[in-house]
Amino acid sequence: MDQTGRSLISLEGLDREDILWLLGHAAKFEASPNSKILDGKIVATLFFEPSTRTRLSFETAVNRLGGRVIGFSDAATTSSSKGETLKDTIMMVSNYADLIIMRHYLEGAARYASEVSPVPIINAGDGANQHPSQTMLDLYSMLKTQGRLDDLHIHLVGDLKYGRTVHSMLTAMRFFNPTFHFISPDELKMPEEYKEYCRNNGIKFEEHTRFDEETIADADILYMTRVQRERFTDLMEYERVKDMFILKNDMLRSAKENLKILHPLPRVNEIAQDVDANPHAYYFQQAKNGLYVREALICNALNLLK
Ligand code: CP
Repeated sequence: MDQTGRSLISLEGLDREDILWLLGHAAKFEASPNSKILDGKIVATLFFEPSTRTRLSFETAVNRLGGRVIGFSDAATTSSSKGETLKDTIMMVSNYADLIIMRHYLEGAARYASEVSPVPIINAGDGANQHPSQTMLDLYSMLKTQGRLDDLHIHLVGDLKYGRTVHSMLTAMRFFNPTFHFISPDELKMPEEYKEYCRNNGIKFEEHTRFDEETIADADILYMTRVQRERFTDLMEYERVKDMFILKNDMLRSAKENLKILHPLPRVNEIAQDVDANPHAYYFQQAKNGLYVREALICNALNLLK
């Protein structure tokens, strides 16, 4: 299907230069977030799964750039609840919008949508698979706080099995010589396919089942994640693992000075509330960075970046 712009389904198709170029544009949008570059454009946000940050920051990005937004945040109010297929929904919405931003509970739904859609698709999360715009804002936050993306020690903590943001991050970081530490209970370990991806791409990683002061002492980035209740088939299992790894202030006593704590949010219990005031905490600024990064991603999808 010929498209007038570029879909963003995963970060697999981007190289180091593409990533840095997009982050450079995000920095320009941060310096100047309001313009009329999307004047006359209509962007559809189709959210088949709940969201606060991703949907609102994408919609804010469109509004700040002078475009207009249509869409839904609850698929139960749409004709998909009457049995309309995803293909038919995409074909209909592409009659009205220049770009579709979609979150869906099925892995692969965004890829499928991009194959049938005449307008570009941005994947705003597909099941436990990928969340590329989140990863781009994660990289932007790392670059801003560390001054570089190369050679970072990145500690990923929590639900590495179902957490799509950590899966997307591996793909994007393969150009930057990271050392990953996968810290999770056995039940939520990084799936073998992603470890195989690391081995095939020369990405260094270590696995840990303990989460304590010592394990995180050499981290540049501590990336906390929520245990993804909605992906469990057995809720008893969720109850058993949900509070296993909680970051508390006293665990940061040996942290490196440059350490920043990131979290894609929403948070449940995995970061104690009093960590919010710790100078290492960066997750609320990280979410704010999402606006600038998504301004860049929308304009890129519509071929509006020079
Ligand atoms: N990080 C993230 O995807 O948040 P939302 O689910 O609120 O969009």
